[in-house]
Amino acid sequence: MRAALGLLFLASCTTEDTVERAEPLAPLPAPAPVATDRFRDAETCAQCHLAGEGTPVLHDAAGRNISPSLLWRSSLMGLAARDPYYLAVFSEEIAADPDNADAIAGVCTRCHAPAGHEEAGGALTFDDLVSGTSPAAVLGRGGVTCTLCHQIAAQGLGDETSFTGGFDVGYQRRIFGRYPDPNINPMQLIVNYTPEGGSHIAQSELCGSCHTVVVRTAGGPVVEQATFLEWRSSSFVAQGKACQACHVPVVDEAGVAIAAPITTFSSSSSRVRTPVGRHTFVGGNSYVLSLIADAIEWSGAGVSRDEVLASAARDEAHLREAAELAVVDTRREGSVAVITIKVTNLTGHKLPTGYPSRRMWLHVTASAGGSIVFESGGDDRFATQPHRDEVSAADEVQAWESELVDDRGQPTHRALDARRYGKDNRILPAGFAPASPSDRTRTAPVGVDGDATFVAGSDTVTYRLIGVPAGATIAVELLYQAIRPSTIDAIDRGNTPAGTRFVDLARARPVTPVVMATASATIP
Ligand code: HEC
Ligand code: HEC
Ligand code: HEC
Ligand code: HEC
Ligand code: HEC
Repeated sequence: MRAALGLLFLASCTTEDTVERAEPLAPLPAPAPVATDRFRDAETCAQCHLAGEGTPVLHDAAGRNISPSLLWRSSLMGLAARDPYYLAVFSEEIAADPDNADAIAGVCTRCHAPAGHEEAGGALTFDDLVSGTSPAAVLGRGGVTCTLCHQIAAQGLGDETSFTGGFDVGYQRRIFGRYPDPNINPMQLIVNYTPEGGSHIAQSELCGSCHTVVVRTAGGPVVEQATFLEWRSSSFVAQGKACQACHVPVVDEAGVAIAAPITTFSSSSSRVRTPVGRHTFVGGNSYVLSLIADAIEWSGAGVSRDEVLASAARDEAHLREAAELAVVDTRREGSVAVITIKVTNLTGHKLPTGYPSRRMWLHVTASAGGSIVFESGGDDRFATQPHRDEVSAADEVQAWESELVDDRGQPTHRALDARRYGKDNRILPAGFAPASPSDRTRTAPVGVDGDATFVAGSDTVTYRLIGVPAGATIAVELLYQAIRPSTIDAIDRGNTPAGTRFVDLARARPVTPVVMATASATIP
C-alpha cells in the first residue's frame, strides 16, 4: 500500500512538475547615498525639499504636506525600478532571448531606471538593477529620480528623437524649475547644482520623452505606448492643459492654488512661491502600488507601507475622475428592452492609456422582482472580446483595451514579442484629430470600424435585451483593471525568479476591478 502511494506520487511529480518553480527574486537593496558627476540620490534633495510638520514650508492652505520628496517617493515614478510587475516582464524578455540580454536590459532600464542607465553608459544589467552595488545600480533603483527629471534639457523635446527615452541630460549640473529667479546659493554650496528657470519642466514634451514607447522587434518598430501622441492629438493642446495640469497639479485637493515656500533652507524658507506642483504623479495603477505595499520590506524602497497605500488610494480617486458614465436612453421595442450607455473620456489621452495591460469594461445587471434577469461583465475572467457597439447576450462584454499580438496574431504581454495591436478600442480623448500622418498611424484605433458612435471623446453602447420586463432596474458599473488575470497566469508559466515573486504577490491580492463610475435606470 505504502509503496503504491509512493509510486503514484513519483509519477505525478515526473509528468506534471518536471520543471521546478523558480525561487522568488531576493529582496532589493535599500536606497543608499550616491553622488556622481551628474546625479545624486533623492534623499539628498529631501534635506531641503521635505518639510516637517508645523511649518508653512511646502504645505497647502489646509495644512497638508505637499513636499515633492514625500509625494514622489510613494509614486510609481519613484518606484519605477522596484516595481515587481516590471521586473517580472523584464526577466521574461531576457529568458526569451538570452543571447540579447544586454541589449534588452539597455531598453528596459532606459525609462524605468534612467539615472542608472545614463551613469552606466547604457550598460546596466538586470542583475545590477536587482542586486548591484555600483553607483549606477544604486541610482537605477531610484527610479525616475529628482536629478534625472530636473536635469532634462529643453533641447529637442517633442521631436521624434526625444521619444522612447531620447531625453538629454548634460554635465552642467543645472536643475531646471518653473521660477526664473531662484536663490541659487544654497544649492550651489551644499549640493553643487545650480537651480535655473526652464519653462520646459512644465510642458508635456518633457513627459512625452518616456511616455512615448516604441520598441524595436524582429518584425520592426512596435508602438507600445503613445500617451503623449494621444495628448498631442487632443483638444487639451489648444486648452493649454499639459500632463502636469492633471499629474503634477498646482492646486490642492480642494482645488485651491498652492502658495508656499519651497525649501526648508533658512535663507529662502519664508519666500512664498506660486505655482507649486504636487508631485503625486497619480495615474490609475493602484493595484501594483498595493502589491508594493504588501511587499514593502522586499521592495527596499525605504518608504512606509501606509505611504504607499495612500498613494494607491490617490490612484483610485483619480480613476473616479477619469470618466463620465450615463444611461442616455431606455426604451422598449416590442419584447426587447433597449438601454443606451455613454462613456465620456475626461482625461487628456485615450482611456485607459499607457501600458497595454490596462482595460476597462461595463458591468450591466438588470433586476426584476428581486432577482437578476440579465448580467454582463460580472466576472473578470471573460474571454477576449471584439469591440462592440451592441450587446445582446450575457457572454458579450464591452471592454475598452489595447492588446498586443505576436507574429501569429496571438495576444502577447511581451512588447519585444509583439508585432502590432490586435485590438485598440480605448476611448479617444476630446477633440481627437492627429495633426500628422505618422501621429495618425501611431494612435489609430484598431477594430472599431463600422461603429458610428465611437467618436472623439466618447463611445456609446446599446444593450438590446430579451426577457427584461417593464419596470426592471438597470445598474451599470464602469470597471478598471490594471492587469488581466490571464497575464498573471502567463507570467507564472514564464517561471523566472522575478516572475515567481510577482505571481506570489498577485495571487495573495487578487486583481479586483476598481469601480470608476456607476449609473442606473428603469426600463419603461
Ligand atoms: C520609453 C520608455 C520605456 C521603456 C524603454 C520601457 N518602458 Fe516599461 N513603462 C514605461 C512607462 C511610461 C510605463 C507606465 C505606463 C502606465 O502606467 O500605463 C511603463 C510600464 C511598464 C510596465 C507596467 C508596470 C505596472 O506597474 O503596471 C511593465 C511591466 C513594463 N513597463 C515593462 C517594461 C519592459 C520589460 C521594458 C523593456 C522591454 C520596458 N518596460 C521598457 C516606459 C518605458
Ligand atoms: C541646501 C538646501 C537645498 C538642497 C539640498 C536642495 N535644494 Fe533645491 N532649492 C533650494 C533653494 C534655497 C531653492 C530656491 C528657493 C527659492 O528661490 O524660492 C531651491 C530651488 C529648487 C528648484 C526650483 C528651481 C527653479 O528655478 O524653479 C528645484 C527644481 C530644486 N530646488 C530641486 C532640487 C533637487 C532636485 C535637489 C536634489 C539634488 C535639491 N533641490 C536640493 C535648496 C535646496
Ligand atoms: C485632463 C487631465 C489629464 C491630462 C491633461 C493628462 N492626463 Fe494622464 N491621466 C488622467 C487620468 C484621470 C488618468 C487615470 C485614467 C487612466 O488610467 O487612463 C490618467 C492616467 C495616466 C497614466 C496612467 C495609466 C496607468 O496605466 O496607470 C499615465 C502614464 C498618464 N496619465 C500620463 C499622462 C501624460 C504623459 C500626459 C500628457 C502627455 C497626461 N497623462 C495628460 C488625466 C490626465
Ligand atoms: C518626472 C519629472 C519630475 C520628477 C521625477 C521630479 N520633479 Fe520636481 N518638478 C517637476 C515639475 C513638472 C515641476 C513644476 C511644477 C509646477 O508646475 O510648479 C517640478 C517642480 C519642483 C520644484 C519647485 C516647486 C514647484 O512646484 O514648482 C521643486 C523644489 C522640485 N520639483 C523638487 C523635486 C524633488 C526634490 C524631486 C525628487 C524627490 C522631484 N522634484 C522629482 C517634475 C519632476
Ligand atoms: C525618464 C522617464 C520618464 C519621464 C521623463 C516621465 N515619466 Fe512618468 N513614468 C515613467 C515610468 C517608467 C513609469 C512606470 C513605472 C511603473 O509602473 O513601473 C511612469 C509612470 C507614470 C504614471 C503612472 C502612475 C500610476 O500610478 O499609474 C504617471 C501618471 C506618470 N508617469 C506621469 C508623468 C508625467 C506627468 C511626466 C512629466 C512631468 C512624466 N511621467 C515623466 C517614466 C517617465
